[in-house]
Parts: sequence; C-alpha cells; structure tokens
Amino acid sequence: MKSIKVGLLGLGTVGTGVVRIVEGHQEDLQRKVGCPIEIEQILVKDKRKQRSIPLPTAKLTEDPADIIDNPDIDIVIEVMGGIAQAKELMLQAIARGKHVVTANKDLMAQHGAEILAQAAEKQCDVLYEASVAGGIPILRTLVNGFSSDRITKIMGIVNGTTNYILSKMSQEGASYEEVLREAQQLGYAEADPTSDVEGMDAAYKMAILGTLGFHTHVAMEDVSVKGISQVSKEDILYGQRLGYEIKLLGIAERKNDAISLSVQPTMVKQTHPLASVNGVFNAVYVYGEAVGETMFYGPGAGEMPTATSVVSDLVAIARNIMLGVSGKTSLAPYNEKKLMSDEQ
Ligand code: NDP
Ligand code: HSE
Repeated sequence: MKSIKVGLLGLGTVGTGVVRIVEGHQEDLQRKVGCPIEIEQILVKDKRKQRSIPLPTAKLTEDPADIIDNPDIDIVIEVMGGIAQAKELMLQAIARGKHVVTANKDLMAQHGAEILAQAAEKQCDVLYEASVAGGIPILRTLVNGFSSDRITKIMGIVNGTTNYILSKMSQEGASYEEVLREAQQLGYAEADPTSDVEGMDAAYKMAILGTLGFHTHVAMEDVSVKGISQVSKEDILYGQRLGYEIKLLGIAERKNDAISLSVQPTMVKQTHPLASVNGVFNAVYVYGEAVGETMFYGPGAGEMPTATSVVSDLVAIARNIMLGVSGKTSLAPYNEKKLMSDEQ
C-alpha cells in the first residue's frame, strides 16, 4: 500500500505537536486520506537535545538535504521559523516537486507571493493555515467560506502572547515582564518575543488576512504597527473604569479601491464580543456586504492548537495527492491589481 511520506523541518513547540497528532490520530488520518501518513525525517539544529517525545534517533537529521533531496518525501512541513533558510528550503522543496505546509507568518507575509508563484509553476500545493490565529481555520474560511461575498472589514485579536499578557495584567494585576516569561515558557511567544510585543507578528497576520480577504497583495509597508510594550497597568485600570478593555487589535478595511491596515493597542468597549476574548485565545471578526457580521474564536497559539491546523493542511494535500489533483488548491487569490493604501 502506498504511504504519504513527510519531511518535518523543526521539532520545537509546533513540530512536536505535529508528530503527536500524526502518530496519535494515525488510524483516523489513514481513513480520511486513504493511505498511511509517515514522518520520514525531521530536521533539527541539535540532534542531541532532549526531546519531550520518544523518537528513533535515525529519524532526526541536522542536514536539510536528507529531506529536500529525498525523492521518497512527498510533503515538507516547515515549522523551524525564521526567514532566509526557511524560504530557501521551501523553494528548494518546491523546485523538486514537493508540496509544502508552513506555519511561518513572517515568511508568508513578506515572501508569500513569490513562493506561491513558484508553487503554481511547479504544480505544488502550499498551505499555511497555522500562520494566522493558531487553531482557528480562518484562512480557508476567508477564501472558500466567503467566496460568494465581498469582504469589507476584518478585525482581529491575532496574537496569543500579547492577549495573554493584557488579559493577565487586566484580570490579575500581574506584571508585564512576569506574564511575558510565562507566555514564553508555554511556547506561545516567538523565538524573539519582540515580534509579539511590538506588534509585528500581528501585522504579518493582518497582511495575510488582508491579502486573502481582499484578493490583493498587501505589502508590509502598508500596515501601520504599534505594540503593547508601552501599555501600563494604570492604562488598563483607567480603561476599565471607563468601561473598556485594552486589546492589541488588527484592523483591515476596504473602501472602494483603497485599503487601510493597522495594528495597535485599542480601547474595546466591555460590551463588545472582542473585549471578552482572553488569555491565549484569538478572535477574527469578518464583515461581508452580504453576510454581515461574523466572528471566529479559538486558541491562537501553543503546541496542539497550532499543530491541528498544520496537520489539517497536511491531510488536505495528502488527499489531493491520492485524488491526483494536487497543485491546484493553494490559498493564493492574488490579483494583478494592487489596491492602494489609504495613506497613499
Ligand atoms: P521553536 O523555536 O519551538 O522550534 C523551532 C524548531 O526548528 C526546533 O526544533 C529547532 O531545532 C529547529 N530549527 C530552527 N532553526 C533551525 C536550523 N537553522 N536548522 C535546523 N533546525 C532548526 O518554534 P515554534 O515551534 O514555536 O515555531 C515554529 C514556527 O511556527 C514559527 O514560524 C512560528 O512563528 C510558527 N508558529 C508558532 C506558534 C506557536 O504557538 N509556537 C503558533 C503559530 C505559528 P532544535 O530543536 O534542535 O533547537
Ligand atoms: N507568537 C504567536 C502568538 C504564535 O503569540 O500569537 C502564534 O502565531
């Protein structure tokens, strides 16, 4: 019986969750795909590092070529993070006809157009559901679920780390530094948490949401960004007395041929559903001209929620391979035309 063979780039928070789900749900996945899914090789920085899951050491490698040049591997999952090497490995994998799943929002927001163009040329699937809002399947919802509508506004709490920090500061009076350390220990924060607290992580996610929701290419320079590092306990208390919660909110709006995108700490009325999104949870509000208001809610970071989205992408591609339709379903509704940012 054929099996789908996977090369995993990275075995940190997300990679570990991917192995747990692929192994723990194997029978179920096999029924859904029509054949077994096997993780063939896993790229890590340091093979000797202690791992939280038992693995035959033969599966671990420090040499990317063991995955990229392995003709048996059908799908590469990139969960190593960073830009330059991750991009290079993804492009090499695509050049060799492999399909790709990634959770890397930094990379997809900045180089997604190039990667998806090369994938289309090589008839490879590239899916990246986990790059935005962890366990919420918001990308396929935007592209497929709203294909009949015209989306004009997307608002989101799309960074788990900062929402965890703001919620704990608001509900428990905890200190910023203490809660940031907790978020790092829980595996929510980026390798460099500056990207979380200064709003860049949320900005990358809003750029991806804007790109898919508005069918255009949103460049990072079109997103205005401010993080939460300057938000004090006093600001939060003051807001609460006036009936508001402070949230790091991403807002993407489309008016005619102009779009505006921003990420900033925002006073949200306590009666608004976004005000009660707490902890590592994320929420994405989508307004469509026909459907009206919708909101999607769920865990925005962490091992198992993120791995759920990664493995769902893996299953989608594995099914495509089994059906002989791979290379036709990437989430890439880029137009030739670039909408103008409001500021221009
Ligand atoms: P971690 O830092 O926990 O894991 C990174 C893994 O990649 C490690 O196993 C590391 O090896 C390996 N790695 C990193 N660089 C190299 C390299 N140059 N060569 C070989 N191996 C390398 O990251 P996360 O799992 O938290 O995140 C991975 C990706 O997923 C990032 O793009 C992140 O933005 C994204 N993401 C993360 C979420 C989360 O909740 N953590 C949620 C959604 C997306 P070693 O173990 O030997 O150090
Ligand atoms: N660091 C990110 C967050 C991980 O806290 O939301 C999920 O993308």
